Amino acid sequence: MRRAAPLLFLPLGACSGVQTSLGGQGVEGASFIGLFEIFLAVTGVMYVIVIAILLGGLFRRRANEGPTPVPDARHPLLRPALIGWTGLIVLGLSGLALASFLEDRTLARPGQKYPFSIQVTANQWWWDVQYQSSDVSHTVRTANELHLPVGVPVHVALKSNDVIHSFWVPNLAGKQDLIPGRTNDLVLEPTQIGQYRGQCAEFCGREHAKMAFDVTVESPAAFQAWWSAQLASAKPPSVAEAAAGAQIVTSGPCAMCHAIAGTNASASVAPDLTHLASRRSIAAGTLPMSRANLESWVADPQGHKPGSKMPKIPLDAAQLHAVSAYLASLQ
Ligand code: CUA
Repeated sequence: MRRAAPLLFLPLGACSGVQTSLGGQGVEGASFIGLFEIFLAVTGVMYVIVIAILLGGLFRRRANEGPTPVPDARHPLLRPALIGWTGLIVLGLSGLALASFLEDRTLARPGQKYPFSIQVTANQWWWDVQYQSSDVSHTVRTANELHLPVGVPVHVALKSNDVIHSFWVPNLAGKQDLIPGRTNDLVLEPTQIGQYRGQCAEFCGREHAKMAFDVTVESPAAFQAWWSAQLASAKPPSVAEAAAGAQIVTSGPCAMCHAIAGTNASASVAPDLTHLASRRSIAAGTLPMSRANLESWVADPQGHKPGSKMPKIPLDAAQLHAVSAYLASLQ
């Protein structure tokens, strides 16, 4: 069954690999696949029985359409068949309700302690991500990406700054809405190291489709190394071109929205850029990370993501080149 289920979804080929509900690389995601298979089996059997009865009725009618029609007497098996069919439906639906209930009970983890919590705040159209620690100096802020240690259940607190969004990493777990004015919870417990893609799953305006994020599941040691690296301030630029870019970014309009730890830029209405170049994508999954794409994005954000809150800053070619040199150095 587990092998056959993906075949039914071949038309959804675009959803394979890094973004698929049939991946099962998280405890919750794998558990959903089990529930899906139970539903598929029960409803599949019901479907086959209904079609068999329909075909049986059709052929029986044909047989009766002879020159001397047989009077349509009530079949002696009609009553027991109807009782049996009703019983089967009640049994099937009760089974599905029970399976759903047990699944819910398994996923709810009352009283479970988590080693740390990630606060994800949705904005039109990007994700603000804060790794929280009881020691405030160990709090890390990033954007449009999650790093997770394999085999560790992690609590995710979901908030929104504007409209309703939905947080969804289909390989790992189900969807959970982010609603202004309240905090929703989700637990991510990845079971396989790998790179996955998350996507906003609730229409939230013009750039809903370009509101994605990257998820990296790694060994606990690699995760700790990532967290430690993220705690550091931005490295001062080492070449003249990047230094010129740093001057433009940290003293110009960029600093009115973005933060870069260790510089004057400390605003929080747009993604934190301290370790921007260590991420896999730009502008919430809009472009793959590269210096050329950084330059192209800064040169024309509205061309790449129309309606985005990132304005086009008037910069000449040399300034753009300097800015991309600096941004690409923010490892
Ligand atoms: Cu955020 Cu759709």
